[in-house]
Amino acid sequence: MELRTKIGRLELVHPVLNAAGTCKTLEDFKKLVRTPLPAVMVGSITTEVRYGNPGSTFFSNPNFSLNSVGLSNPGIDYYIEFLPQMVKIADAADKYVFVSVEGSRPAGYALLTELAFQSGVHLVELNLGCPNKWTNDGRQETIPSYDLDMLKEILRVCKLSFRFTRKNKILSVKLSPIPDPVLLKKIADLINESEIICAVTTSNTLPNVFAYADDGRPAIQSVTELGGMGGSALKPIALGQVKQLRELLRDGIDIIGVGGIKTGKDVLDYLNAGASAVQIGTACFDRGPQIFGDVLTELAAL
Ligand SMILES: Cc1cc2nc3c(=O)[nH]c(=O)nc-3n(C[C@H](O)[C@H](O)[C@H](O)COP(=O)(O)O)c2cc1C
Repeated sequence: MELRTKIGRLELVHPVLNAAGTCKTLEDFKKLVRTPLPAVMVGSITTEVRYGNPGSTFFSNPNFSLNSVGLSNPGIDYYIEFLPQMVKIADAADKYVFVSVEGSRPAGYALLTELAFQSGVHLVELNLGCPNKWTNDGRQETIPSYDLDMLKEILRVCKLSFRFTRKNKILSVKLSPIPDPVLLKKIADLINESEIICAVTTSNTLPNVFAYADDGRPAIQSVTELGGMGGSALKPIALGQVKQLRELLRDGIDIIGVGGIKTGKDVLDYLNAGASAVQIGTACFDRGPQIFGDVLTELAAL
């Protein structure tokens, strides 16, 4: 089968990518750039250093994963220093660097996007779906995917800052699963009108899921016992998002499918539902970077 694909004007030799969360440091990057990935997604990155939520923040079994990692990453200063180095390494390997940014506020998204593009990265993914951020007094922070006004403002401010440097830059948004079809249509309309978005990644983890581990204790024991759900259980949900969004988004806005991919057949399902590329998260944490070559071999054999 033909594996070549495109996101915006970026040509990829095949559609299998790593999901945000799997590469935070130069060391992670060096491991992933050695796999068959055509682009390495770095991040999510934030303006401040984030040490991650306390306690046990990741759980997985064959059916689902839960995490409450909370965007742990070394912060903007680290990426100002090391993103250009990652781009250099990727250029030498004829690969792209993608960066996922989580700016908290609209200006934060715009700032991180600018920084990433100035470092020479090829695509920036706005992470609008992190469910694992808590204020110091224990309140869960707004998830922009579910707040139309906030989402609108993030796109507006990014567009403003983008005006000066827009040429050749590719911007995508990553959404949470949106179970309400009316809200999904409103979000798709905003993206269609935005003029700066070339791709939509769906889905980030399903927020606030609870499960017990085999020993009867809560699977996540962190700020709360809730976590974002990924893995196999997310696949039919994310496939439904891909299918609806393919109908709702205008031509020229590509879809990147993510949720529960661990085999070549999973990738094929996403491509058939309307995705141009896919990303793998949980299976990379479970099986390491070798997952990308394994899935690709399976896909090529289908
Ligand atoms: C441990 C862990 C950390 C993650 N960190 C991020 C992140 O920093 N930014 C982001 O956009 N998504 C993050 N995600 C979500 C994944 O990128 C992906 O959207 C989700 O897990 C569904 O894909 P999967 O079923 O392949 O895991 C994380 C997921 C996990 C399991």
